[in-house]
Amino acid sequence: MAKYVPEPFRIKMVEKIKMTTREEREEAIRKAHYNLFNLRSRMVYIDLLTDSGTNAMSEWQWAGLVEGDEAYAGGESYYHLMDVAKDIFGYDMIQVVHQGRAAEKVVFPLLMGKGDYAISNMFFDTTRAHVEIAGARAIDCVTPSALDPTCKDDFKGNMDIEKLEKLLDEYGNKVKAVVMTVTNNSAGGQPVSMANLRAVSSLCKDRGVFLNLDAARFAENAYFIKMREPGFENHTLKEIIREMFSLVDGFTMSAKKDAIVNMGGLIGIKENQQLFEGVKANCISFEGFITYGGLSGRDLEALARGLEEGVEYEQLEYRYGQIKYLADLLEAEGIAFQSPAGGHGLFIDAKAFYPHIPYYHFPGQTLAIELYKEAGIRTCDIGSFMLGNDPDTKEQLKSQFEFTRLAIPRRVYTQSHMDLIRDAFVALKEKAASQKGYKITWEPPILRHFQAHLEEV
Ligand code: F0G
Repeated sequence: MAKYVPEPFRIKMVEKIKMTTREEREEAIRKAHYNLFNLRSRMVYIDLLTDSGTNAMSEWQWAGLVEGDEAYAGGESYYHLMDVAKDIFGYDMIQVVHQGRAAEKVVFPLLMGKGDYAISNMFFDTTRAHVEIAGARAIDCVTPSALDPTCKDDFKGNMDIEKLEKLLDEYGNKVKAVVMTVTNNSAGGQPVSMANLRAVSSLCKDRGVFLNLDAARFAENAYFIKMREPGFENHTLKEIIREMFSLVDGFTMSAKKDAIVNMGGLIGIKENQQLFEGVKANCISFEGFITYGGLSGRDLEALARGLEEGVEYEQLEYRYGQIKYLADLLEAEGIAFQSPAGGHGLFIDAKAFYPHIPYYHFPGQTLAIELYKEAGIRTCDIGSFMLGNDPDTKEQLKSQFEFTRLAIPRRVYTQSHMDLIRDAFVALKEKAASQKGYKITWEPPILRHFQAHLEEV
């Protein structure tokens, strides 16, 4: 029997969601050209498109919105945020920005340029894009177990250390940064172990390469280390987080995830003062003055408070408990996913769900469309539909994975919503063999999955 970890909160305010009929949903998704990004959110019952900026703030955070200091320079909320961030991460040099990709835009051009390389356990899309915008090339270097959804290793987000060493030998001083993404979103929200981070840190130190933490889900990663890595059982989350950040030279962070706010981001630089001067200069040009970084004072206040709540043990235990509960329900129904369950959701193996649908008819997108029609659940494809075409030949690329991502927002949905998701999967499984795939009828030249039109084949 799947066990549900009770919520460490009660509900004080609710948001109504529209209950739709199957006919209404079929009409809505048809009008959206079978692209879930084109749906109006009021037509969605359970929105699992992302866990980013879709989290529920606490009453303490909402109260902070009223107390936020809107001064252009030197506001109280800025100082509150700095105090909290310095305490959690152990850094003195911290810059606030409006979201994760803004942090990347500010930092990456200071680290790399044309002809350079950056290596990661797996780049998130925008992170890869900002490496490329800076003129450099991005190379993924994830541990091979990540590529097998049935393998239940504890730390499938890890860097492949042997391969990293080879890449560092091969590209030498052209490698300007190593990026550790915690948790590893693209590999299914899989964590990185402290041992792996220590090994990468020591390699980077030896070679003089800047090690950046892509820290969007740092608290979830720390929770996994505490629960899974021998020697960390008795460490506090704060101690684990401090060690993680002490092993790197800096971090870029989307605060829209673990800091439980709707908008925000952070940059941290451990020692390099000159680099931090560059960060501040770029921030003023792109984001706004240093003490607001593209956010309102009220957002800074909510972020300061959210950071504190996001690293609480009870919050993380409940958070992972909810995802694990859903994972256990689906596993009992024989539904395959990137296992074990990820820190921010489940990545369903759509290739296993629809083995007869070829990659060019997009099993991950097909499952996403059918989940919506069945129960108003919005998810997204992380597979060939998202990957797109070869830039030279224009041929459809074949993704290593065909996932449908169920990203679970923090503190938003309840146990009965999880049960409903299971029921939808059970219904779809019965019809799976006769399900047809989808084909693209129109696509824009870049990042097509956000806008493309599709129809059933
Ligand atoms: N890094 C990682 C690992 C991310 O998952 C994201 C965003 C970013 C950077 C960029 O941050 O959105 O604040 O600019 N991930 C979201 C997602 C969008 O749905 O996984 P951002």
